[in-house]
Formats: sequence, C-alpha cells, structure tokens
Amino acid sequence: MVPAARGGSSPAAMRHLLSVNDLGSEGLKEMMRIADFFVEISTRPIPKVPALRGKTVACAFFEGSTRTRLSFEAAAKRLSADIMSFGASGSSMSKGESLKDTVTTIESLGADVIVVRHASAGVASQVASWVSIPVVNAGDGWHEHPTQALLDCYTIRQALGAESFQGLKVVMVGDLMHSRVARSNVLALSAMGARVNLVAPRTLWPVSLDGWPVEGITCDLDPLLEKADLVYLLRLQTERGAGRLLPSLREYAAMYQLTARRAAMMPKDSLIMHPGPVNRGVEMSSEVAEMPGALVGSQVANGVVVRMAVLYQLLVGGEGVGVLDPTAPDVAPAPAALRSAGVHHGAPGPSDTSSDSTPSTRSTPRTPSTRRSAGA
Ligand code: NCD
Repeated sequence: MVPAARGGSSPAAMRHLLSVNDLGSEGLKEMMRIADFFVEISTRPIPKVPALRGKTVACAFFEGSTRTRLSFEAAAKRLSADIMSFGASGSSMSKGESLKDTVTTIESLGADVIVVRHASAGVASQVASWVSIPVVNAGDGWHEHPTQALLDCYTIRQALGAESFQGLKVVMVGDLMHSRVARSNVLALSAMGARVNLVAPRTLWPVSLDGWPVEGITCDLDPLLEKADLVYLLRLQTERGAGRLLPSLREYAAMYQLTARRAAMMPKDSLIMHPGPVNRGVEMSSEVAEMPGALVGSQVANGVVVRMAVLYQLLVGGEGVGVLDPTAPDVAPAPAALRSAGVHHGAPGPSDTSSDSTPSTRSTPRTPSTRRSAGA
C-alpha cells in the first residue's frame, strides 16, 4: 500500500489540471463543492450563465472522444465561453505541422485555456510547458484522465450522499495496464478514503504498482464480489493493444464480464460504474448496464458540471468560489428578477444582468441538495 494522492495545491492556486495529484483530497472535495453550484444552472430551461463570457476554451482533441469532448463543450457553453474546437484530422498536422506549433497557434488565436487529449502519455504536461495559458488534461495515453476521476468521485458522492468515501470497498476490473482512467481513479478514490482492489488477467496488470495506492491486485474476480460496495469496470483498450494480450475476448468475458450472475453476488445497493464507451458483452452485460445500481448515465451527466467547475476554477478561480455565492458580501446581489424567482440559494450569482441567461420561473429554490434528481 503506497500513500494516496499527494496533497495537491488548493484549487484556487491551481495553474493546470494535468493529474489528480494537482488536486489532492482537499482539491477534489473543493471541486465537487464548486460543481454543486453549477447543478442548479443545469436544471434551468436555458442552462447558461455569463461566468466565462469573453473567454475562449480551446478543445484540442488529437484522439477520438464522444463524452469528454462534448461535455467540455457543453460546460464551456453553459458558462457562456466561446469555443475553438480542434481535431488532428483536417488540420495542418496532416501537412506535417508539429504539435508544438499547433498548440502555440491555438494560443495565439486567443484561447484562454486548452483542453488536450492525445494518445501519448505526457502530452498534456508537454503542452503546459509550451503555452502560458492553463491546460486541462482530457486524457493522455495510458497516463491520466483527471476530470474522469473527478466526475466519478462526484457520482459516487451523489449516490452515497457522503463527503468522504472512508472504508468504501472498490473493486476495479479490467485493462489496468492501458487505462488512464484506472490510474486517475485509483489516486482519486484512495485520496477520498476508499479501499481499492484491482482485478485483471495477469497480462493486463500495470508494469509496476509503484504509485498505485491500492490494497492488492489479483486475477480472480469472483471472491471479491461479495464484499464490493462498488465495482468499477474498465474498457478493454484494444486500440492500445489489449487484444493481443488476451487469448480471446470470449475468454476475457467468461472470467471478467460483470454479468447478472456476478452482479447477484454483490451486496444489495452496491454500485456499478464504467467510464464509457462500454463494450457490452465484454466488460458488462446489457442486463447489468440497465440495472438500477449501474451509474453509467449519471457519470456522463455529471461530466458537465464537474467540467464547468474545472474551467471556472482555472479561468476565474483566483477570485474564489465566493463570486458564485450571491450571499457573499463581496458579490453584487443577484438581480431582482432572479431573487424573486428564488434562484439564489447555493446557485451561482450571475452578477451580470446583461447576460443571455434566462432566469428560471420556478418559485421553489433549488439547492445543491437536489442534485440527486437534477441529472446535472
Ligand atoms: C475513457 C477514455 O477515453 O479514457 N473514456 C472517457 O473519457 N469517458 C475511457 C476509455 O476510453 O476507456
């Protein structure tokens, strides 16, 4: 057992988000509290506030993505930022332009933050050394995917209704060798107090467990299920060569797929998660994916509010969360129209009345405590 995630800096002082270690346990908790402020916005008929108006978020995705890219874009839009979207194909990279020239061009075009995904580990840090604006790692090769870990922690916190995961028994199953989600989640879950055990065929174990704060690792899934509070399934990263390390997908599924039979071995009310995209019939059966304890849909939905929190924190976080709290003394009071609509408790306080955000006409204030049903 090695120590959990390093302390990290306070989110207010955070310059980039490259690793879960940039946050540490206090940073993770603080980010989740900031995300709570954004849940209310996401339930409005027009889910938008002017917090990042005038800022430009560049999404530079050099590797495929559905959820992460769309949720960063949705997060930026809900905060009224402009978006520059970049994919490697169709860009000047296909003419031989280097990664460095590409990202510095994005900065010169006026981006205020770059969200980067790339198939190679370490690219996000490399980009951070080339530009003077904040960088968010949206997945770098086998290395890390910190916003996935953050949204997963947010989803678990929502399901448990608890701030700490002390003693939560997590079994993480699948392609531990190639999964950046595994690495970021092990750091984050252990920092939050969970006890993590890893399960995979021997050929898919990480090369070393140095820096993995886990209780143990095994090839044998079934004996762990009866005590698991949460089973976290990882996608087989066939694009990174996982298929070549297995006799066959059928054999993998026979040993490691979470089927209804295996799910029945888990304690009642235990949770099932997967970062998506799910290979149904490989990591989990369709039946399990539809079970009430399966949180895959909530994970996706929560991706938007936690990414709003990350963008907000990196771009205006120096001003503190206080600016989101209209009850704080240094914040302009919420416009009368918002106050009379009851949109002020725990909700971000759009101090800019010329916003294109539309106040809710609900008479009952929504607070972060409604997040369970908010769908974020
Ligand atoms: C993950 C990724 O791309 O790292 N997906 C995601 O971001 N939701 C997980 C995966 O592809 O296995």
